[in-house]
Amino acid sequence: MLDTKTIEIIKSTVPVLEKHGEDITKTFYKLMFTNHPELLNIFNHANQKQGRQQKALANSVYAAAKYIDNLEAIIPVVTQIAHKHRSLGIKPEHYPIVGEHLILAIKEVLKEAATEEIIDAWVKAYGVIADAFIGLEKSLYEDAAHKPGGWDDFRTFTVAKKVKESDVITSFYFTPADGGNISGYFPGQYISLKLTIPGEEYTHIRQYSLSDSPEKSYYRISVKKEEGNSEKPDGKVSSYLHNELNEGDCIEISAPAGEFVLENVDKPVVLLSGGVGITPMHSMLRHLDATGVNHETIFVHAALNGNVQAFTDEVHEIAKNNPLVKSYFCYENPTDKDKTEKVYSKEGYITSEWLKTIVPNKESMVYMCGPVPFMQAMYEALLDAGFKKENIRYEFFGPSMQLKETQSV
Ligand SMILES: Cc1cc2nc3c(=O)[nH]c(=O)nc-3n(C[C@H](O)[C@H](O)[C@H](O)COP(=O)(O)OP(=O)(O)OC[C@H]3O[C@@H](n4cnc5c(N)ncnc54)[C@H](O)[C@@H]3O)c2cc1C
Ligand code: HEM
Repeated sequence: MLDTKTIEIIKSTVPVLEKHGEDITKTFYKLMFTNHPELLNIFNHANQKQGRQQKALANSVYAAAKYIDNLEAIIPVVTQIAHKHRSLGIKPEHYPIVGEHLILAIKEVLKEAATEEIIDAWVKAYGVIADAFIGLEKSLYEDAAHKPGGWDDFRTFTVAKKVKESDVITSFYFTPADGGNISGYFPGQYISLKLTIPGEEYTHIRQYSLSDSPEKSYYRISVKKEEGNSEKPDGKVSSYLHNELNEGDCIEISAPAGEFVLENVDKPVVLLSGGVGITPMHSMLRHLDATGVNHETIFVHAALNGNVQAFTDEVHEIAKNNPLVKSYFCYENPTDKDKTEKVYSKEGYITSEWLKTIVPNKESMVYMCGPVPFMQAMYEALLDAGFKKENIRYEFFGPSMQLKETQSV
């Protein structure tokens, strides 16, 4: 436990941290990667370059500082991070490295304002926060290892099948190279892939949501190709998976993780996705189909058009066989073929008015996933349409963020 004086100092530094938070974390990463370049095997370099990870870490440090005498209050946030850490293979021995460099960064940014007293308080507070993470992650590693078919860390899988789902999305089916079983998972969870790409100095780890139902004997992921944008470099891992990884090849995978899962509640369900955000929603839909749909389930998906849309036939088939399931596709810019085949329900964007007409029950549980601007727009549209904040769950395909009730707030 921290003494009152330390708690007071930590709390009084929150405004300073809020002001300098991102500078501190940027400095922290720079120093840490200079002294420990081996950590570049774990961290996502694109997230670093685009600053999203800096924001995520900065936010969690403020949260921890604000609640340093009541860390239980931030358990949901810590648990979500701990799932990501476990999936990445973060170990207790990594924490002192992060702690040391965080303190060095605070000193470098705050300069003389970082008195010995403040630094001492932060060393102690970091110890308390790190212990909370280490304890939680220990139990997550144990859970992952002790499940039937489970394992901790990374395990070698073979690509059993590679299937093109659309112009931009390809699915990969993985089975364990050791011939053993896979561990079960909850629909909505993700796995991490660790890749050694020829010509790359470091390994690259990325998360992918499982896109089939957990009732299967393989893991399936469905990956969007991030290529051909003249303003941005091609995505490292997605390009490699699409262009180089073939049936029969091996790949390192960590056990399923994540808290964005279909909850066992007695309510209708809305599965709302944009673009490749369809993957966890599709897993949820397939699981409901495999185990029995008991509630009205409405699958709503937004895509540019039918050429980039994955799983159209699978979703239609499930809807056809289950009277309680309805599916709607909204195409921003349908092709002539889409128009002839009429596979979509609406042209343009998903709006609050349209949601009101297709989802009659505003008490529904809503699960959503897609690009950040899509999720922000959907969150506002859902609230405007009368859905309850506490019934809306969402997953980011990158460091987590907080959606706003209105963008102007
Ligand atoms: C929980 C979770 C689940 C996910 N599930 C899926 C899924 O089911 N399917 C899926 O396709 N993806 C999924 N993702 C996203 C996935 O993990 C990868 O982020 C995605 O495949 C891109 O990785 P990459 O290595 O190809 O691109 P990266 O090399 O990581 O680049 C990412 C993006 O940043 C851009 N970029 C890179 N460097 C720069 C720079 N210097 N300046 C500006 N832009 C830059 C790239 O052009 C690219 O668009 C998920 C992510 C999470 C966190
Ligand atoms: C108390 C200390 C720590 C805090 C508060 C913290 C916080 C965070 C947060 C908020 C995220 C983003 C999670 C998400 O939304 O996806 C994250 C991700 C991550 N963390 Fe930590 N973390 C800590 C310790 C560590 C340690 C010790 C390591 C390993 C050296 C580490 C490595 C990572 C990596 C690799 C990611 C994934 C993001 C990326 O690659 O860009 N973290 N952490």
